[in-house]
Amino acid sequence: MIRAANLRSEYMQDDVEEYLYRLLPARDAVIEEMERYAEEHRVPIIGPAVARLLSLLAETSRAKRIFEMGSAIGYSTIWLARAAGPKGKVHYTDGDPENARRAREYFRRAGVAKRINVQVGDALELLKKTPGKFDLIFNDVNKNQYPDALRAALPKLKRGGLFITDNTLWSGKAARPAGPEDAATLGVQEFNRLVYASKELYPVLIPLRDGVTVCRKR
Ligand SMILES: C[S@@+](CC[C@H](N)C(=O)[O-])C[C@H]1O[C@@H](n2cnc3c(N)ncnc32)[C@H](O)[C@@H]1O
Repeated sequence: MIRAANLRSEYMQDDVEEYLYRLLPARDAVIEEMERYAEEHRVPIIGPAVARLLSLLAETSRAKRIFEMGSAIGYSTIWLARAAGPKGKVHYTDGDPENARRAREYFRRAGVAKRINVQVGDALELLKKTPGKFDLIFNDVNKNQYPDALRAALPKLKRGGLFITDNTLWSGKAARPAGPEDAATLGVQEFNRLVYASKELYPVLIPLRDGVTVCRKR
């Protein structure tokens, strides 16, 4: 199995998705250890296919000031920190102190600890409190919070900056009617409507893994 069970999109044909993951080059030891840990402990990381997209977008846009909302064990944080380069700064945020403890250890071993500022608490509040604007904001918080995450991120994003959000197809559920009890799907659906209706943003929803929406602020 090339693609771990936690990276299944649920809407793409299995063999096609396997193929997509089989194409990816091997990762370094720390990243591969994190992928194994995430699979074994069911940590919902973006995985290597989406990580490459994040890295490509951060590098090509030359993003240096990066804020991540919902960082878990720091997998996506390391890809962002490497893409930002030695002069970059990535703000890690997560509500779980144990995740942050584990992430710090990975950052040290990956050689990027100096580029990362670790904060524990509510990512939306931490973003509002952190001074200045960002070149890139990556959003991966609880899905019911997506509309609020968008409202928190927009004023903190520089003009021309990128706002990137994971899970915007939500296993395909975003495309189907959701019951009133399904706050996560409703949150993703509302988010998708809001970004496409926004005059401030130019969004593209990429159907990679669980859906990734890349928005450029005009
Ligand atoms: C999908 S995981 C993040 C995975 C990470 N971006 C990666 O790909 O490696 C979501 C994480 O966000 C955290 N989280 C969810 N809502 C949050 C919030 N409002 N503030 C801070 N952390 C939050 C959860 O504790 C969880 O660890």
